[in-house]
Amino acid sequence: MIIHTAEPGDIPAILLLYNHAIRETTAAWVSREETLDDRQAWFEGRRKQDLPVLIASAADGTLLGFASYGPFRPREGYRLTAEHTVYVDPKAQRRGVGKALLLRLLDMARAQGLHVLVGAVDGQNKASIGLHEALGFEVTGRLPQVGTKFGRWLDLVFMTKVLTEEDAPEG
Ligand SMILES: CC(C)(COP(=O)(O)OP(=O)(O)OC[C@H]1O[C@@H](n2cnc3c(N)ncnc32)[C@H](O)[C@@H]1OP(=O)(O)O)[C@@H](O)C(=O)NCCC(=O)NCCS
Repeated sequence: MIIHTAEPGDIPAILLLYNHAIRETTAAWVSREETLDDRQAWFEGRRKQDLPVLIASAADGTLLGFASYGPFRPREGYRLTAEHTVYVDPKAQRRGVGKALLLRLLDMARAQGLHVLVGAVDGQNKASIGLHEALGFEVTGRLPQVGTKFGRWLDLVFMTKVLTEEDAPEG
């Protein structure tokens, strides 16, 4: 498995994986599948803001998963916190791909001077909660029934990890 920065040519495979998660899971709380234009716009937005989009590929180039982070909330005071996401192809799950992607994302977040990463996870998503706990994230908030998909209420669980011991910036 190789972890590297995504290129525009990777977007169709990322789209397929993301749309599968929209159709089949409560990882993404939307029901409309994205178009290639939607994902390209997302990718360009990340690039313009110097935000990472990482992919994990098999030796033959097949996409195994992707991960990225972006702003947590738009206001200035949240600028040292980012919200991340990670998706692994169902055929490649439980083989360490998510862990490898998230570990690399943590390195990049530290290198960019971020202080906290936040995962916003469906409260019943045992795989994601397990992955985050394995990497030292803690459940720091639970918002019961704030979401809905597939005819049921969804709890939003925030999982956070403080990345540095630095003092808060002046001002
Ligand atoms: C969540 C997800 C990214 C995990 O990726 P993965 O590659 O399967 O996870 P890994 O193989 O790297 O697992 C690392 C650790 O996470 C935990 N973990 C992973 N899957 C788990 C599961 N189904 N149940 C419990 N713990 C799990 C384990 O501690 C695991 O270590 P171990 O295999 O040595 O026990 C993957 O299941 C996925 O893409 N799910 C659909 C999309 C999604 O939910 N994304 C997260 C949105 S917040």
